[in-house]
Amino acid sequence: MKLRYFSHSAFQITCDDGVKILIDPFFNNNPTSPVRAEDVEADYILISHGHWDHLGDTLSIAQRCNALCICENELGQYLSAKGLNVHRMHIGGAFKFDFGRIKLTQALHSSVTPDNVCHGTPTGFVITINGKSLYHTGDTGLFSDMKLIGQLNKIHTMLVPIGDNFTMGIDDAAMACDFVRPVQAIPMHYNTFDVIRANPEAFCTKITANGIECKIINFGDQISI
Ligand code: NI
Ligand code: MN
Repeated sequence: MKLRYFSHSAFQITCDDGVKILIDPFFNNNPTSPVRAEDVEADYILISHGHWDHLGDTLSIAQRCNALCICENELGQYLSAKGLNVHRMHIGGAFKFDFGRIKLTQALHSSVTPDNVCHGTPTGFVITINGKSLYHTGDTGLFSDMKLIGQLNKIHTMLVPIGDNFTMGIDDAAMACDFVRPVQAIPMHYNTFDVIRANPEAFCTKITANGIECKIINFGDQISI
């Protein structure tokens, strides 16, 4: 599969059969996004929580592409009421979709939609496709149950926020990687705004010293997993 990073927490997985999965599609109000929402395709959209920098352009992309939105229950009800196709889940639950399996994980954070209508629960995702698991933590602080997520799911690639202020910073993110023990980690949620400036190289130095590969993906670039 391919993994493209758009900056912030926005990624696109392209499966070997061409199925496209967007995660936290924050494009048109994102000063660091290399693409516009109108240029992105999706069969599925995963939304970690309702904050504007994660819900992003979900509405317009889901409408244009007729994508299925996958998210936590209350946020799902909110998106359903706007006419979108939604699969609602909750923390600890997994479901097998045509492309693979999604499991919702907890995230230490909050969640409210930009119009202050929906106060749901923030989440992360374990995404398993063809036997490989990715863990997108969502916006979160460090929590020790990440150890269980790592033990239960054998994470290959961990997408971890390092920008501090609203989420983990570099030290906590490095500890999170040590809890989960993925094969590789990719830093996210940094340098979008001044308050979340962080040096991804400093994060990489820490986790590499601890036996975990680090991949910094330039905004807009794609890697194979
Ligand atoms: Ni947030
Ligand atoms: Mn955020």
